[in-house]
Amino acid sequence: MKKIKTLQCVSCGKEHDQDEVKYLCSSCGGNLHVIYDYNLIKKRFNYDELKENRHMDMWRYADLLPLSDLKGISNLQIGYTPLYKYKSLAEEFSVAEFYVKDDGRNPSASFKDRASAVVLAKAMENDQKVICAASTGNAASSLACLSANMDIKTVIFVPEKAPAAKIAQLLVFGAIVVTVKGTYDDAFDLSVKAGEEFGWYNRNTGYNPYSREGKKTCAFEICEQLEWETPDYIFVPVGDGNIISGIWKGFLEFKKIGFIEKLPKLVAVQAESSNAVKLAFEGDGVIKPVSGQTVADSISVSLPRDGQSAVQALKESKGFAVSVHDKEIIKAIPEFARKTGVFCEPAAAAAYAGFLKALKEGKIDKGDSVLILATGNGLKDIQSAMKSVGKPYLIEPQLSELKNIVADFGLDK
Ligand SMILES: Cc1ncc(COP(=O)(O)O)c(C=O)c1O
Ligand SMILES: [Zn+2]
Repeated sequence: MKKIKTLQCVSCGKEHDQDEVKYLCSSCGGNLHVIYDYNLIKKRFNYDELKENRHMDMWRYADLLPLSDLKGISNLQIGYTPLYKYKSLAEEFSVAEFYVKDDGRNPSASFKDRASAVVLAKAMENDQKVICAASTGNAASSLACLSANMDIKTVIFVPEKAPAAKIAQLLVFGAIVVTVKGTYDDAFDLSVKAGEEFGWYNRNTGYNPYSREGKKTCAFEICEQLEWETPDYIFVPVGDGNIISGIWKGFLEFKKIGFIEKLPKLVAVQAESSNAVKLAFEGDGVIKPVSGQTVADSISVSLPRDGQSAVQALKESKGFAVSVHDKEIIKAIPEFARKTGVFCEPAAAAAYAGFLKALKEGKIDKGDSVLILATGNGLKDIQSAMKSVGKPYLIEPQLSELKNIVADFGLDK
């Protein structure tokens, strides 16, 4: 029996056999959702099986992934990232619980490893020799990282303004790196054309239906790590909308198979000039392009490629969207790091900035539990981080000079 029933279009509902279609709906070009035979999965996959499972990574949920086996998976540890609980911060913010899920702890230091891992395994399953991707940076660096020791060539398209650390990752891992004179959206279009022209497998977010499948594993982990409870609100940074749509799919699937009862409300956090999902959610539901300019490169998107699914996730979860100014994002980086010990890149810090704004606007109640999804590590973009911290002290190597500094802090006994 096949565990995948169909690939269903999020726009027109058309169903496709998985061997019939590679990326988008054959009727309307909409994004496809992988629909499983959940009755079959329920029989195979249960709490006891999970307890015994030796994979302490995303592959522990293989029964709910679109792969026939785990032969093509990377040997790096992807997923099962830490989920931290902060009692003092819950008190400070007057919320019931305050959690942080640190996905910057993945091998290439971002959430995107979850998606790359599944798409890469799918490529291996289908005997693809070349995989390509356009990316604001992280999807690409994760693909380059995970494919580094595999028998597959990786071609990457990134905007020329992608942060240096992300480009360094790409080059270090040995991908063929093409920086495009233009935006992420330009890189995206070129990668699709290149895939078609040269027959490469395309990993693009909001295009390849399997990227969402990897992303949903984060929701599975949250359920398991909170012992089958779910937070009331999850703050998710949103660019293309694939992470938030994947997270939502994960919670829905765990509810379908009876692992959880309560679904969380999702909050999409976007940068003010890159807020197409927020505008569509609060307007007529149609995604329209915006400028996309923001310091948070990972959520700098003019036309979100999985925007419709993101809007659907917000509506179905009864959540909301919030946008934050670049200044709030930059300020949030050290503030969040100093409160939690988690250093975030700007996009991830935006999730925390969005939480602060929602709290101020009275959208979060005292009895609510909150989780901030920290999607990417701060070392990915130190230039942005340095904008909101001072400079270190510079002194001659003499105790007398150090004494002046120490006195300023009242640490001189
Ligand atoms: C660190 C980080 N946060 C958030 C996002 C946004 O995810 P999505 O584009 O799926 O909305 C990305 C995407 O690149 C990312 O790398
Ligand atoms: Zn369709």
